[in-house]
Amino acid sequence: MTASHTEQQATTSTMVNQLVANLGVLHVKLHQYHWYVQGPQFFTLHEKFEELYNEANLKFDEFAERLIAKGEKPYSTLAEYLEHSLIDEEPYYNKIPAEQMVENLVNDYRTIRDVTVKSIELATQEEDPVTEDMLINYKNYLDQTIWMLQAFLG
Ligand SMILES: [Fe+2]
Repeated sequence: MTASHTEQQATTSTMVNQLVANLGVLHVKLHQYHWYVQGPQFFTLHEKFEELYNEANLKFDEFAERLIAKGEKPYSTLAEYLEHSLIDEEPYYNKIPAEQMVENLVNDYRTIRDVTVKSIELATQEEDPVTEDMLINYKNYLDQTIWMLQAFLG
């Protein structure tokens, strides 16, 4: 475990909250790509990105509500999402090629998967099977999504 981060000792709840922050940013980023994607893959990717942001939104809500149910406080402002997200965003000034968008998303989903794996470990240690189950489902989804995006890249 790297102790260099400013946050307190990682717990299932702090890690799930980090997922909330990442999903808050990812949701916006997927919209950006949905709007700006260009080229011969437009129809495929425009639709795919919409599917992904809808799925991201469901998980965002599910994880935040799980924290509430546990008596915790999920982040709930854009400023908090940006502060605590590990994935970043950028204004769309210059064209991002469609393949680059997909590559960026593969990296983002891998980052989110790392947080999810760490969260699963903590949920196991803390004997919180409900959260653990949600996280394992999400990890399965992430594995599949990463595989599909990579298959697109060839
Ligand atoms: Fe749309």
